[in-house]
Amino acid sequence: MNDSVHTFVTDSPEQAARYINNGGIVAFPTETVYGLGAGIDHPEAIERIFSAKGRPQDNPLIVHIAFPDDIVNVSIRLTPDAETLVRHFFPGPLTIVVKKKPCVPASVTAGLDTVGIRCPSSTKARELLRRCTSPVAAPSANLSGRPSSTNWKTVLEDLDGKIDCILKGEACEIGLESTIVECSGTTPQLLRAGAVTLEALQAVTPSIVADSTTPEQHTPRSPGLKYAHYAPTARIVTIRCDRSTPFLQGIASAAYIGLSDPPAEGFTLVRRCATLDEYAHALFGFFRYCDERGITTIYCELPADKGLGRAIRDRLVRAANSH
Ligand code: TXA
Ligand code: MG
Repeated sequence: MNDSVHTFVTDSPEQAARYINNGGIVAFPTETVYGLGAGIDHPEAIERIFSAKGRPQDNPLIVHIAFPDDIVNVSIRLTPDAETLVRHFFPGPLTIVVKKKPCVPASVTAGLDTVGIRCPSSTKARELLRRCTSPVAAPSANLSGRPSSTNWKTVLEDLDGKIDCILKGEACEIGLESTIVECSGTTPQLLRAGAVTLEALQAVTPSIVADSTTPEQHTPRSPGLKYAHYAPTARIVTIRCDRSTPFLQGIASAAYIGLSDPPAEGFTLVRRCATLDEYAHALFGFFRYCDERGITTIYCELPADKGLGRAIRDRLVRAANSH
């Protein structure tokens, strides 16, 4: 497919599944963000996912399944903690990393012997997945380094002509990517914060540890964490509104997003969120909207480091470090 050919947009899971089953690549909604999927038994389609996104080859893809029990088709062995997490959080916004079966190709896992597996809860995603003849490998449906897409229009903006089909759905309910837990060893480890919070994970697997890897370290446990992420063109500045905020300069072409009232007057755009859920839901769309409006700096309030606040902070800090 070349750039002069447009991507087919549909709201029919049947049509979208037909593309995947015939070796195409399809963007689809989930409760976290949009994914860009291909059947794991279609190596050329997997390759096209990497080229459409401009994604580095050493960054593995998450494999999506329609039903929690399907995990046995892609994983050789589940630790007791992995079983507990599947029981509590599948289907939902959690990815677990486990030892892979040989049917999962190295191109999906970037040569690792583990695979990230997720069973989304979104009805549209499951209607698609249950019609696919194999599990579906899917990264987020955005150009590499850009904020993840939380609605189909921004998928089209990034990937029109590069992918075969977009399955349209509602805007993604959560708005941030799934929580990732490494579960292949003895101690489960949180690799990426998300809507399944550390507190919720600890309630059922008390031994879980939070990953101490920083983006600057060379070989983080999750390969994708070493890349620039979630970044709009505008510069991201994180602020704490509960402290005395330093005088903000040049806010004429600046925007603010956060839970508190803006710390100064004169922002071009202000998005005040009533709850953490709303903040997560709005964040990536706001980043993209700010770019459209020519905003040069986005001031973002850092929420407290607990619950969903941990995931929002993670994305804000990575976006701020991307510049
Ligand atoms: O919510 C989500 O997780 C979305 C939807 C579409 O499911 N997907 C998503 O995929 O965010 P992506 O590719 O943007 O992020 C997946 C992350 C990457 O950082 C990647 O390195 C990590 O998961 N990952 C995948 N397989 C892994 C593995 N075997 N071991 C460690 N990390 C892995
Ligand atoms: Mg991504």
